[in-house]
Amino acid sequence: MNFEDLNKEALPQHIAIIMDGNGRWAQQRGKLRVRGHEAGAEAVRKTVEAAANLGIKHLTLYAFSTENWSRPKTEISTLMALLVRSLRRELERMASNNIKLSAIGSLDKLPKNVQQELHEVVQKTAANTGTHLTLALSYGAREEIKQAVVQISKKVKNNIIPVESIDETIINEHLYTQNLPDVDLLIRTSGEVRISNFLLWQIAYAELYFTDELWPEFNEQSLHQAILSYQKRERRFGKTSEQLT
Ligand code: FPP
Repeated sequence: MNFEDLNKEALPQHIAIIMDGNGRWAQQRGKLRVRGHEAGAEAVRKTVEAAANLGIKHLTLYAFSTENWSRPKTEISTLMALLVRSLRRELERMASNNIKLSAIGSLDKLPKNVQQELHEVVQKTAANTGTHLTLALSYGAREEIKQAVVQISKKVKNNIIPVESIDETIINEHLYTQNLPDVDLLIRTSGEVRISNFLLWQIAYAELYFTDELWPEFNEQSLHQAILSYQKRERRFGKTSEQLT
């Protein structure tokens, strides 16, 4: 399939990806899991570039979940080091591709050097107007929703907002993703068919796309396939087909 097969007028505005299968990719090749994560970082680079070339407005990647903290210490430190290295290396490319970087999650739980590096890249790319890349790091959707409930409750308690004013917009405004539109297309690699605590609120009407490809194998072609599948579907948002035409 080619780039030309995609309808440029009907691109998903927001694509989110659960990048899974780095470990299995390495295992299949008799390599250490860390090699899988390195190859995964390369797939991140290719995918971000492909999304930017297509003009995708928002791309959100699940890079580290709250549950991932229970992995072996050495794997966690390798992943963190890889993240710092990738951010440092990719800064220039992000600038030249007009990419704006953000991060969501319990960022205060990340090692200080990762927080600093992230902060720097976020600052340096803040004025970019191309693809908005969001990394979900130390991210869990239930935690995100919980902290939104706490913030809103405090505002009600302190008479900043009346309880009657709480609606979907107010809830959205208290999520980490307050500046992002809902997810249109959610992709998960590696053949696993689950959501794993990712963007539970934001995927309410997303189209779900699962592929057997392992994350390090994912590339421009894979992204195009996923978007093509999305474009063949009819998004009804609860309406009937007749109401849409
Ligand atoms: C899932 O594979 C992947 C992760 C937990 C980490 C994702 C990290 C990267 C893609 C690399 C660095 C990221 C950036 C943003 C530069 P897995 O280890 O769960 O694979 P498995 O299920 O086969 O064991």
